[in-house]
Amino acid sequence: MSAPERIALVGLPGSGKSSVATELARRLGWNCVDTDEQVAQRAGRSVAEIFVAEGEPAFRRYERRALLHALAQAQPTIIACGGGLIADEANRRALLEDARVVLLDAPDDVLLGRLRNGSVRPLLGDDPATALARLRADRREAYETAQVRVVSVGSVNQVAETVMQSLEVDAPALPRRWEVDAGPGVLRSIAGHLPESTTRVALVADRAVADAADAVAASLESAGMAVFRIDVEGGEQLKTWDAAGDVLSRLAQARLRRGDCVVALGGGTVGDLAGFAAASYLRGIGWINAPTTLLAMVDSAVGGKTGVNLSQGKNLAGAFWQPLAIVADTEVLDTLPGRAFRSALAEVVKYAMIGSDDMAAFVHNNLGALLERNPDVIEEAVLRCIAAKTAVVLRDEREAGPRQALNYGHTVAHALEAMGGFSGDITHGEAVALGMRVAGRLSVRELACPAGDIAVQDGLLDRCGFPRTHGFDPGALLDRIEHDKKATGSGVTWVLLRRRGEPSTGHAVDETSVRAALAEVFAP
Ligand SMILES: NC(=O)c1ccc[n+]([C@@H]2O[C@H](COP(=O)([O-])OP(=O)(O)OC[C@H]3O[C@@H](n4cnc5c(N)ncnc54)[C@H](O)[C@@H]3O)[C@@H](O)[C@H]2O)c1
Repeated sequence: MSAPERIALVGLPGSGKSSVATELARRLGWNCVDTDEQVAQRAGRSVAEIFVAEGEPAFRRYERRALLHALAQAQPTIIACGGGLIADEANRRALLEDARVVLLDAPDDVLLGRLRNGSVRPLLGDDPATALARLRADRREAYETAQVRVVSVGSVNQVAETVMQSLEVDAPALPRRWEVDAGPGVLRSIAGHLPESTTRVALVADRAVADAADAVAASLESAGMAVFRIDVEGGEQLKTWDAAGDVLSRLAQARLRRGDCVVALGGGTVGDLAGFAAASYLRGIGWINAPTTLLAMVDSAVGGKTGVNLSQGKNLAGAFWQPLAIVADTEVLDTLPGRAFRSALAEVVKYAMIGSDDMAAFVHNNLGALLERNPDVIEEAVLRCIAAKTAVVLRDEREAGPRQALNYGHTVAHALEAMGGFSGDITHGEAVALGMRVAGRLSVRELACPAGDIAVQDGLLDRCGFPRTHGFDPGALLDRIEHDKKATGSGVTWVLLRRRGEPSTGHAVDETSVRAALAEVFAP
């Protein structure tokens, strides 16, 4: 799999972004997202009305979310960007990192001619000619960052053709990949993600989200589905071979066929179990992952890894099986207990350590608001993490290379969870936090990672309230790590950091070094 193709069209009002985007999407068979349309849909009013009722800053916040949503998609996508979107520095960075940016440009008289017949543009006011000249001057620098400039005169078809030639793109022979919908209330439209072939749905739901499960079942039924409820007790103890067998039998009892679907509604444990059942039943049927914990939203729901634990180790039986859609309803997080919420922040801090500067800045600036559970910041964190993980997974779905970087902190984490007998005494996130502290120390020893970078990591983990140590015996932990790796037939390898933002995978580290790093964290 290669990274998703994304083309972002930017330009002044009237430059033809929306119509050219629609034409490009039609020609290439790609997904099309118009950020202004998304904003209007989300706000339930037109862009002009948002400016009047809520003001420009509110519009810009909606617009940012629309952009992140577009970048989180796993399908090739054309993005028609609102005219001022790229003027914002964070948006610009995100676009230039994840998309090929095309500036559609035309002389003012052409733009004004088109605008006379179009919808109301709040930034143009009563004197469009003067306003347009001002916008052109204000946004010149931002527009100049576009990788390609296309003169947008002539028909929509001609402009679309020029864009395709400039970028040398053609319709890709890529299969359709999973859809992503994230934000408050998105579970209400979950039925829209089912394939046309589906008439029966097995809803594997965590009892902890029984109200949400009732609502999902009702909405699926009203879309004409026969719904079979499989209620489970979420938690690490759920991820067993027996539980998977039980779910599989229930799918057979419900007489699900190839075109039917499983919906997983719960945290990472429910997603891993239900996804594994979907991967195995009839050699694989479709499934939708609807995560209900922050950890599942920012991490486990993305990437198609499904499976259960064996007594010999964590996640030893499983399959790569991508869901048809990930539907992350952030409203469901309202009931998530503090410990489970905080646990997820370990994975968020992990993205700050292995990801882009932009991601690190976001986590630094917003950790306080996340801990206070600010809904807008939670939504942005979810979208950013989904986009970051999607980009990695699409480069390396089977974890042969770059995807291994996502396991930063996980060598120790999996051993800690196994030593606790998967009892949930230590949560996955808490184990990852400790694992990152160890991997950070090894990074300094082995790769001369600046100690300051690891101090920043530890500071973030401290702010989340993760303990600096835990009552595990470092010697026993080392034995367990080696035991886990023997069980999989691979040697012990580590994901380390050369510096923040530069993970390096596959390191075989000398036992003395590992012992010392474990001792620093577990027997300080
Ligand atoms: N597949 C992957 O790529 C991947 C990646 C990371 C982690 N994981 C797995 O994910 C699991 C951890 O996920 P998790 O932290 O979501 O654990 P979890 O599923 O055990 O959920 C944590 C707790 O929260 C409860 N819960 C869930 N949603 C709730 C809600 N909205 N309100 C109240 N309570 C709620 C659950 O019943 C459970 O008690 C681990 O097994 C880990 O191995 C998988």
